Amino acid sequence: MKKDLQSMVNVAVFASGSGSNFENIATSDLPLSIKVLIVDNKDAKAIERAKRLNVPYEIVERSGKTKEEFEAEILNILKDKNIEYILLAGFMKILSAEFIDRYDRKIINIHPSLLPSFKGKNGILDAYNYGVKVSGVTVHYVDSGIDTGEIIDQEPVVLRDDDTLEIFEENIHKAEYKLYIRALKKVLEVKE
Ligand code: GRF
Repeated sequence: MKKDLQSMVNVAVFASGSGSNFENIATSDLPLSIKVLIVDNKDAKAIERAKRLNVPYEIVERSGKTKEEFEAEILNILKDKNIEYILLAGFMKILSAEFIDRYDRKIINIHPSLLPSFKGKNGILDAYNYGVKVSGVTVHYVDSGIDTGEIIDQEPVVLRDDDTLEIFEENIHKAEYKLYIRALKKVLEVKE
């Protein structure tokens, strides 16, 4: 599929850390244009990726301001860039219900477990420590709960008895790269 400039959807990606999911989306052939990467952490490796990929980025730190001020700053950027979808990719701040309401069914997240199991920020480790035989990844719309929004798509990952945590993490990330693209194709109604 070729990117057609006429039908590109403007998106913002939010990240706090490594940004490998951001890079995966940025280098995909999805009909979207990442107008901005928003990071809340000036040391995020995602910034290096944005520079290398020529994606504009904004660092919006939370410290020294109220949550309202923090979100107002982000909302201004989104408005300015005419953003239609927000793609969360390892963004570690919880957005307020007011923020989410403004982008109803337009905020999408990837979570490294088969929701509703293993919600929260340690989805991979919690599933590993529990001793599950199958876990996986979920892409879902964001609502005002934590990892509770409507599921768009999921991908299972088998955990073999001799898999180390590192191997399991690697398999989860591989599944994330595949799933986020597949789920976005669904949302954007991309015809293959
Ligand atoms: C991923 O495991 C994602 O599922 C979770 O945070 C992690 C982000 O990784 N929400 P990266 O920054 O995209 O490499």
